[in-house]
Order: sequence, then C-alpha cells, then structure tokens
Amino acid sequence: MKDKGIELLKSYKGFDCELVTDLSRENLLLKLPEFDGIALRRGKIDREILNKCDKLKVIARHGVGYDSVDTVSLKEKGITLLVAHNSTSTSPAEHIMFMIMNIYKGVSMFDTMVRNGDFVKAIHLNIEQNFELFDKTVLIAGFGRIGKKLIKKCLGFDMKVIVFDPYVDDKVIASFGGKKVSNLEDALKVADILSLSLPLNSETKNFITLREMKLMKKSSVIINAARGGVVNEVDLNNALNNNIIAFAGIDVFEKEPPELTNPLLTNQKVVLSPHAATFTKEGLESMAVETAQNIIDFFENKIESTKIVKL
Ligand SMILES: NC(=O)c1ccc[n+]([C@@H]2O[C@H](COP(=O)([O-])OP(=O)(O)OC[C@H]3O[C@@H](n4cnc5c(N)ncnc54)[C@H](O)[C@@H]3O)[C@@H](O)[C@H]2O)c1
Repeated sequence: MKDKGIELLKSYKGFDCELVTDLSRENLLLKLPEFDGIALRRGKIDREILNKCDKLKVIARHGVGYDSVDTVSLKEKGITLLVAHNSTSTSPAEHIMFMIMNIYKGVSMFDTMVRNGDFVKAIHLNIEQNFELFDKTVLIAGFGRIGKKLIKKCLGFDMKVIVFDPYVDDKVIASFGGKKVSNLEDALKVADILSLSLPLNSETKNFITLREMKLMKKSSVIINAARGGVVNEVDLNNALNNNIIAFAGIDVFEKEPPELTNPLLTNQKVVLSPHAATFTKEGLESMAVETAQNIIDFFENKIESTKIVKL
C-alpha cells in the first residue's frame, strides 16, 4: 500500500496498525488471526485462513475486485467486505484506451523498428495492421464505473459504442451515448473491439471462449483488463494463431504472475501489462487513501453503504 494510506491508518488513534509484507499462506495463517480489520492489497485469503480469524470484522480491498477472498466464508462469519470504488476506474479506463491505441497504431512494432535501425524499412512497410479508430465499433461488456469512463474516451475518438450489460437499463446506456445490446452473440459479430469490464464470478468465468471468438470479425481486437479467466487464455492464443481474431491487449491472467511457459507471453499479437491498469501515481495513491479511510469509516460506523459488498 502507498505511504499515504499507511500514514492515514497509523495516524488514526482508534487502533494499532501493522504492515504485513510476507504474503505466503503459512504467514497469513499465522498472522491474520491477530487482526480486527484487514486492508488487503495482495495475497489470497481462503476459507482455512478465515476460519482462524475469530476477531476479524472487516476486510477492505485495495481495489474493487475481490476474487482473492473466500466470500462464502465471509458471509458465514458475518465479516464485512469493502471495496475502494471511487479511485479505481479512471486509470483502468485510460489503460484500456492505451491498449487499444497501442494495437491500432502499431506503437510497440514502430518503437522496436526505430530502435533496431529499421526506420527506413518502417516507412516503406505495407501497413495493413494499423487502423483509424474513427467509426469503429467498440463493444463494452460490463457497464459499471470503468465502462462508463471508457465510453467517453471512445466517443471522443468518434467511435460507435455498443454495450452488453444485462444489469444496466438501456436509458442509462443511451444517456452516456451508447446503445444497449441484449444479445451478446449478435454484438460480437459487429464489434471491431471488445473490451471487458465485468467482474469474475461463476457467471463470467470463460465469458469469452473460442466459440465466441469465432463469431467475431477476423480483424477484431479483444482487451481484457478485467480479470484473468473471463477470456479463456488457451482459446485466445489459438484464435490469434489461427487468424480467428487479430490482436489482444491483456492486463490480467488466469494465474498471476503467469508461468513463463504461458504462450501469450511470446505471442506477438498480444500487448501485455502486469495487472497494472490502476498503476499510475494518482491511481495508487488515491486507492491507498480510500482503502485506509474505508477501514476507519467502518470502525466509526459511517461507512457508505455503496462500498459494502452484498455477499
Ligand atoms: N486490471 C485492473 O487493474 C483492474 C482495475 C479495476 C477493476 N478491474 C476489474 O474490472 C471489473 C470492473 O470494474 P468496475 O469498477 O467497472 O466494476 P463495477 O462493479 O462498477 O461494474 C461491473 C459491471 O459489470 C456488469 N456485469 C456483471 N455481470 C455481467 C455479465 N455477466 N455480463 C455483462 N455485464 C456484467 C455489472 O452489471 C456492472 O455494471 C472489476 O470487477 C475488476 O475485476 C481490474
């Protein structure tokens, strides 16, 4: 956690605070039962660990995703789960846009060519794989905080935006300038770019597999900055290698860090980042402060209800 968040917790007179940096399961089993509240950035908290945490009243996630915590056990034990949702959408929406731009404008390819002395070769390339964003269709799957920020950026580039989110009203989507689609398969057929901003859960695991990719245009791009597992990695690699889709931008992996043998790491049709969509100076600082404030607000009984995850 960034210093500003730790300072806020340490300066609060109501409780003592300790930083745990050894996130091995053995240490978490030993250490976490000491606490009444946990501000959780990294590390997995499973059922066995939670079973030992008899004092624990609250876990505040440093972020909005909470697939690293056993929510069934939390519910059984009556432990509150909080998310830091105010500070976790601006940087991710920008990161998704960066991935789209990187792919559409061949940024990595040009950068490598210039550094390798291939400047002249680069300007004589028969460019077939760089595109204008103008008039392209983006399908945003998941129209929450990130989706709502992403749409503004896409519309700023004169792109068309269609949205798949069964839980958001068509009028809300229209008010942001998008068009709601109810049938995912039809939407996949017309999308040039699919960007995922939905949670990982039993409903969204393998949300996009080879079957869905086969419905998409051969020139299409998939951006996954949501969670690994929403897009099936083996299928994605196959689809890229067999020209079923053209490119992908991947910030999140089924296993993090990914094995060095993960074929996506050597696939030149993928732009990669290390689960870093929130990694900006501003993003990390505001997330740390929000997470710390959530813990304090919880113990002062003034936590905003929207920050409490319904388990
Ligand atoms: N890469 C990163 O560093 C990073 C950072 C922040 C968030 N995330 C991930 O992005 C996800 C979205 O973040 P957010 O802040 O926008 O969350 P959010 O909760 O505000 O929005 C999620 C949206 O997904 C929709 N949704 C749920 N199930 C769906 C389904 N089956 N089909 C279509 N839509 C569905 C919900 O209705 C909601 O509108 C998070 O769950 C998190 O896992 C990743």
